[in-house]
Amino acid sequence: MRMPVPLPHAHRLLNHGPVTLVGTAHGGRRNVMAAAWVMPIDFEPPKFAAVIAADTLTRELLQASGECTLMAPTDAQLALTHTVGTQSGRAGDKFERHGLTATTGATVAAPLLDGCACWLECRRIPEPHVESAYDLFVLECTAAWADDTLWRDGAWQFVAQGPRTIHHLKGGLFFLTGEARQAPR
Ligand SMILES: Cc1cc2nc3c(=O)[nH]c(=O)nc-3n(C[C@H](O)[C@H](O)[C@H](O)COP(=O)(O)O)c2cc1C
Repeated sequence: MRMPVPLPHAHRLLNHGPVTLVGTAHGGRRNVMAAAWVMPIDFEPPKFAAVIAADTLTRELLQASGECTLMAPTDAQLALTHTVGTQSGRAGDKFERHGLTATTGATVAAPLLDGCACWLECRRIPEPHVESAYDLFVLECTAAWADDTLWRDGAWQFVAQGPRTIHHLKGGLFFLTGEARQAPR
């Protein structure tokens, strides 16, 4: 089940650098694409940086709506992540084509795709120069959620045999998030 994550902890959802899915919606269209180049850049209010290439439908919908969702898929969604990262929504609705189910966010109209490990609702902070020069978008998180079987006491609780987030290496090859180790205090 989806549980709310307090905004001061939102950066922890993506601190470990998993590949994300970016959800967008505008004017009756909705979309989802894979994005590996997404990272936290501020604690409170939580902000993230995301590289969204100029030719993507995601960028068109993000710029038109001023909002998106960032989600971390699990290894059960590895093939789907690759698929939505290698097809454009311009060729047809990926939700219909792949039987995806989603709900809309509490603070944005962009989709929260079922089955992810976490969901961050975001609004675009317009930075026209960095957007056009580097395809880089600054996003402020307005609501955050995690799967309550994977998140406890403000941290991920992945186990070897359970669902885990994924990290992109190259061309369809991924790592699964590994074992946690505590540094000596
Ligand atoms: C694992 C993976 C990671 C990706 N990371 C990014 C990324 O960080 N930024 C980006 O612009 N595209 C990235 N892509 C490519 C987009 O997902 C791809 O261009 C997609 O088809 C765009 O879809 P859209 O046109 O429906 O928005 C990635 C693709 C894969 C498979």
